[in-house]
Amino acid sequence: MKKFLNLGSQPLANSYIKKNNLKNKEKKFKLEVGFNKKNYLVSIVNTVPKEKMFNNEYPYKSSESKTMRKSFKDLAKKIKKYYKPKFIIEIGSNDGAFLKNFNKKKVVGVEPCKNLAKLTIKKKYKTYSEYWNLNLAKKITNSKKADLIYSANTLSHIKKLDEIFRAINYSLSRNGILILEDPSLLSCIKNVAYDQFYCEHIYVFSAIALKNVLKKFNLEIFDIQNTKTHGGSNRYFIKKKFNKIYKVKKSVRKEINRELKFGLNKFSTYKKFSSKVRESKKKLFNIFLKLKKEKLKVIGYGATAKSCTVLNYCQVGANFIDYFYDTTSYKIGRYLPGSKIKIKKYKKLNKKKVDIAFLGAWNFKEEIFKKEKNFIKSGGKFITHIPTPKII
Ligand code: TYD
Repeated sequence: MKKFLNLGSQPLANSYIKKNNLKNKEKKFKLEVGFNKKNYLVSIVNTVPKEKMFNNEYPYKSSESKTMRKSFKDLAKKIKKYYKPKFIIEIGSNDGAFLKNFNKKKVVGVEPCKNLAKLTIKKKYKTYSEYWNLNLAKKITNSKKADLIYSANTLSHIKKLDEIFRAINYSLSRNGILILEDPSLLSCIKNVAYDQFYCEHIYVFSAIALKNVLKKFNLEIFDIQNTKTHGGSNRYFIKKKFNKIYKVKKSVRKEINRELKFGLNKFSTYKKFSSKVRESKKKLFNIFLKLKKEKLKVIGYGATAKSCTVLNYCQVGANFIDYFYDTTSYKIGRYLPGSKIKIKKYKKLNKKKVDIAFLGAWNFKEEIFKKEKNFIKSGGKFITHIPTPKII
């Protein structure tokens, strides 16, 4: 793997700090990103043990976002209509935002974060609170294979891709399909969204890389849909190679050609990206500096893992941002890792109290702008770093 980006020393992005622990030294790791010339995979160089990230205290709940709830609901409808699956497995079922759209008898969740698995178990959805691997696959599908496996924003968090796909291959019925959904590398590079890289996001997938990884397991992509989720994601429809029920659609070639045209197969593309990231850092820092000089009241909106990466990389701390608003109960009252900015319970923005908000959850920009239309009407502004740092 050849390194192309250095995002400095970073804490674990989802390790929100309790007030009593503010003085404790945080565990940090070197966040660097590299490109594998052989299979085109882009991944972080140093990984953190999974147990440190996905445990009993995972803060993110998919159901808390309207955008995500709608995206899962729409997809579930399509799945029922086109594929009529009798047995579905979801890998990374989180708090059940996808599962809950299906009959309890037809679906099984896999969620190693115990605090989240508890929520779906309580609602009587069969959920295995374990990491996805071959042993678990054998346990779940020893007697009956799944005709649909779904996984959103999860497989890119798992280091051993071979183990994942071996297990999927085992669990999937002969004509079964796998639907994967993850941030798209092409969107990430085009948007200079370097904050997609953090401890949990071991990979940001491209179609060309995924194709290479799947080849080994006789799995093949037969359709790709671009979605708006998380700033631009791809939904990959995958089947076993010998399954002739589904033809490979034109969308696959189209996406691959788009990626090749942009140069996702070339190291020079990533070097260019890296210099754009360094420029972005300078610009963002200067914006915060200017706002500080103007004595404006600046807060953060959406205490995301992504914000953690951006703020630590750009050295923007509590001296520039008073506090963050977030809707997630787990995060409220805690502090952002590294920058140690306080997270408060979300209130609708009010221009009398806030001049400008840093859009930490830029991937939910549309949802947020709709919610804060009064703030915007009364002259309130946002700072975003995507695709280039600016005030909007
Ligand atoms: P997410 O997009 O998953 O980011 P990451 O994976 O980088 O952590 O998280 C979105 C965060 O933003 C989550 O903590 C909830 C918060 N949020 C708000 O506070 N208000 C909102 O209106 C929205 C859409 C999100």
